[in-house]
Amino acid sequence: MLTDQLARESIAHLPTPLERLPRLTAQLGGPELWIKRDDQTGLATGGNKARKLEFLVADALAQAADTLITGGAAQSNHARQTAAAAAKFGLDCTLALRGEEPSPVQGNLLLDRLLGADVSWAGDEPLAEAMAGTAEDLRAAGRHPYVVPYGGSNPTGASGYAAAMEELLAQCAERDVRFDHIVLASSSGGTQAGLMVGARALGYGGRILGISVDQHADALRERLAGLATTTAEHLELGLVFAPDDFAVEDGYLGRGYGVMGELEKKAIHTMARTEGVLLDPVYTGRAFGGLLDLVKRGEFDQQERVLFWHTGGTTGIFGYGEQVI
Ligand SMILES: Cc1ncc(COP(=O)(O)O)c(C=O)c1O
Repeated sequence: MLTDQLARESIAHLPTPLERLPRLTAQLGGPELWIKRDDQTGLATGGNKARKLEFLVADALAQAADTLITGGAAQSNHARQTAAAAAKFGLDCTLALRGEEPSPVQGNLLLDRLLGADVSWAGDEPLAEAMAGTAEDLRAAGRHPYVVPYGGSNPTGASGYAAAMEELLAQCAERDVRFDHIVLASSSGGTQAGLMVGARALGYGGRILGISVDQHADALRERLAGLATTTAEHLELGLVFAPDDFAVEDGYLGRGYGVMGELEKKAIHTMARTEGVLLDPVYTGRAFGGLLDLVKRGEFDQQERVLFWHTGGTTGIFGYGEQVI
């Protein structure tokens, strides 16, 4: 196993299901669409952060931490899953969330509260600074905080997705299927970078296409190359990555992060009403909307097999209420 030498806690429900999307495939007339259900990882519903937290929490425990600190948007899935992981391991949790407290409290934020996290509102302060400030205050009070970076995207967290690629390739071997393309939502980069490290290490030759939800392609590629290289180093793989190694599509940024438009709404409806699978307004709705548009534009051959890696976030639906219907 790629990650055998790393400390790891068992948190996620693995392996996640690998399923066909037969009705959608027929409706589109190809390519053959499949889905990897990381919305089913467990940990206060599910999502991609459960895989990253297996390694991050193990690292926090090894450092004798008593508190997890992280940050994100008000409807951060990462914050919700970090709060759940803290509860599961008897740790305290402080979340630095961007902006001011919204009203009413719902969706992920409601769950953060339910899971017992302390929430501090960062206003316009950069999240990294807000998290560092919180850590400083806790240390001064004699506590032992562990800062989980934004999105869980450092080499420790991204290792979870190198392991996820290994899991997928084992499922592919077992079921005798091969994917020409893997498509996923990409933001802080840990998921795509980790998958790419696993792909390169294990010889997966298909394309891994990140649909950016919040950054222009050049900036994201740059970040992915750095993170994949340091993750490979962390796993002692001796692989080096360049920005051009990464496939990124930034044509679906719409009106910016977290602003749900027609693309996301249509994608959420299509997936829900054709396959009974829920997507979210911020990440997977945007990424799947992009994928549907790429299919329409002839980006894939009809005979090709395309895997949509569902990264979770469905709790976010409840932060948007009737906007999604
Ligand atoms: C549901 C969902 N999908 C995708 C992503 C993006 O993953 P990454 O930050 O690893 O690029 C996130 C990150 O917050 C997420 O919550």
